[in-house]
Amino acid sequence: VVLVVDFGAQYAQLIARRVREARVYSEIVPSTMPVAEMLAKNPKAIILSGGPSSVYAEGAPRLDRAIFEAGVPVFGMCYGFQLMATTLGGTVDNTGAREYGRTDLHVSRAGSTLFEGTPVEQSVWMSHGDACSAAPEGFSVTASTDVVPVAAFENDEKKLYGVQYHPEVLHSTHGQQILEHFLYRGAGIEPSWTTGNVIEEQVAAIRAQVGDKRAICGLSGGVDSAVAAALVQKAIGSQLTCVYVDHGLMRKGETEQVEKDFVAATGANLVVVDAQERFLDALAGVSDPETKRKIIGREFIRVFEQAQLEILQEEGPEVAFLVQGTLYPDIVESGGGTGTANIKSHHNVGGLPDDIEFQLVEPLRQLFKDEVRMVGQELGLPEEIVQRQPFPGPGLGIRIVGEVTKERLDLLREADAIAREELTAAGLDREIWQCPVVLLADVRSVGVQGDGRTYGHPIVLRPVSSEDAMTADWSRLPYEVLAKISTRITNEVADVNRVVLDVTSKPPGTIEWE
Ligand code: XMP
Repeated sequence: VVLVVDFGAQYAQLIARRVREARVYSEIVPSTMPVAEMLAKNPKAIILSGGPSSVYAEGAPRLDRAIFEAGVPVFGMCYGFQLMATTLGGTVDNTGAREYGRTDLHVSRAGSTLFEGTPVEQSVWMSHGDACSAAPEGFSVTASTDVVPVAAFENDEKKLYGVQYHPEVLHSTHGQQILEHFLYRGAGIEPSWTTGNVIEEQVAAIRAQVGDKRAICGLSGGVDSAVAAALVQKAIGSQLTCVYVDHGLMRKGETEQVEKDFVAATGANLVVVDAQERFLDALAGVSDPETKRKIIGREFIRVFEQAQLEILQEEGPEVAFLVQGTLYPDIVESGGGTGTANIKSHHNVGGLPDDIEFQLVEPLRQLFKDEVRMVGQELGLPEEIVQRQPFPGPGLGIRIVGEVTKERLDLLREADAIAREELTAAGLDREIWQCPVVLLADVRSVGVQGDGRTYGHPIVLRPVSSEDAMTADWSRLPYEVLAKISTRITNEVADVNRVVLDVTSKPPGTIEWE
């Protein structure tokens, strides 16, 4: 394992992903972890991430110098670079000479471990206030910028390396190459980590964990639960039962995708609970967004637990495992931890024990989203499932502004299907993050169609581009594609006489309308 020490500000996750792109397994640890504990993980190399602090700021995170003396190769980036410099006796000054953004880097030792084979002048991404003016003893300076005399240094004997910039971001044109040079040349690591290894490892781990007991997995129609279920299915076959709650709020064809395509690809036992009526009844008369979300969430848990109970009744209480599609970013964000948690399921429906303690099976907890997709692909799941864009749990229920009814859902499903079809046909699926299609059910406007006046509802298109859904920008879709979607929706969907485009970024708008 390669450890990425996290000094904050989200650089660590990106670095960990880049290391894995170099086919080397990486994990993130907080900078507050004692060095002895880091070393106990037997890392083949350690990377110190950037961070928001100045090394001079009071309370700025530090590291025990033992980390540089354990014989483990270390690569410091940005804050990690400055920390390495100051800890080992170099000089870092608060000169007021700041560099933010794209900067020209001058490589002074072209054949060095990090820079070999890369241009003498290259573009890098900087973000710092303090600057290193002298490298620690035993280090040679391998690059500089117009502002910073020491922008990179290396000590091949001790296997310690550092760069002032952020090689992990794409703006650093040779960043990935430099990271790979550290891993392969500096640390001597063989690139051997692949999604194939992950599958093998996880299958063995799941078999060991579950033994001859049984497991339940809830499918949502999304990528994570589908891949988690497929992995567990591969490991324990018919000991797994999948449950899909059809709440009637899915888009056109999505329930069939789970019922047919998922089952065909995996051979899983699938229980489909048709709860459409129940959700519609519970949502009747409700138009407040938060109330809708609460109702959908509550009904979902009730239906899912009822289904669990029925499975338990049928198969006996040895069903002790619940599969969840938790991903690595969730684990890192909730403070790490490698243990497996248990969750209690409180049933308010009569029958079996009140409290069943499930042990969680989380086969994706080491993976980033793009890796989950690769695993899914390797497990033979259909492209439509593996490449699916994000879709909210409450489904179309929060894309109807106003009360949710069967008629409105059917109408929105048609409009959404047209938009998706045209976006796919235009090859835009990878370019946009997602494109909610929203029905303004409480709004009507006047139109003219054929010979007559109409008084119909507007449909909103909300195409966005984003990296992580935390912020987003509205996508500049080609006018011809927008025109085609608009013409088709107004022609083909009864009661819709207007299509509008949402041109709001996030913030201030959220991606969804409710
Ligand atoms: P917002 O609207 O908050 O959405 O900008 C950010 C991202 O989260 C998705 N989203 C949800 N996903 N359950 C989910 O699983 C939810 O309740 C939910 N609400 C929003 C949304 O589609 C976008 O990708």
